[in-house]
Amino acid sequence: MAQHNEMARFISFEGGEGGGKSTQIARLADWLRARAETVVVTREPGGSPGAEEIRALFVTGAADRWDGATEALLVSAARRDHVRKTILPALESGAWVLCDRFADSTLAYQGYGRGLPLPLLQNLQDIATDGLLPSLTLWLDLPLEEGLRRATQRKGGEARFEGLDFAFHRRVAEGFAALAEAEPERFQRIDAEGSPEAVSARIAAAVCARFPDLA
Ligand code: TMP
Repeated sequence: MAQHNEMARFISFEGGEGGGKSTQIARLADWLRARAETVVVTREPGGSPGAEEIRALFVTGAADRWDGATEALLVSAARRDHVRKTILPALESGAWVLCDRFADSTLAYQGYGRGLPLPLLQNLQDIATDGLLPSLTLWLDLPLEEGLRRATQRKGGEARFEGLDFAFHRRVAEGFAALAEAEPERFQRIDAEGSPEAVSARIAAAVCARFPDLA
């Protein structure tokens, strides 16, 4: 894969369950399109036909269907296909890519949540992404109880992760906080409480700060 541009127009959305990522991604896409930008909205696991097949295995069934290592391998295989087939072609065509979760989710869920060693997961990400990173990662941070309540109401068959205990989700939340602290330049914490409009305004401000040409 090609060398990746530092300021690729690649934004990922991260956070625990029920943080409002999909609503906010759709709103940011509209905001960018209103500025005559081309936008590709995508998600992980998934985002290419092959990766969506892996997603179907990953997010359905019993909570203990896969152990942490199997999960890490599944999401990383899906990510490689997604990067090659969807993300890189979109970036190369000049489009913005707004991605619902990316490699940070593997560090938070399989690393902090499941307890796999972070260096091992980092190596796996190097294989999956060839070093491609979002230029901006928006961490939608919502109190855990509120997020899980929203997620349980919303999800149909894709609820494998909600079946995991509260302590697991607590570790995931702590993982996102640690990742954000380690990379303050790329990672922006967004307070996800309040109306969708209020959250969108916070997101637009963070995007303009990172990509000043848009302001
Ligand atoms: P979603 O509910 O945001 O669509 O994400 C699907 C689930 O997959 C969610 O519970 C988080 C989990 N997940 C991981 O455990 N590791 C990963 O690398 C990714 C991308 C998602």
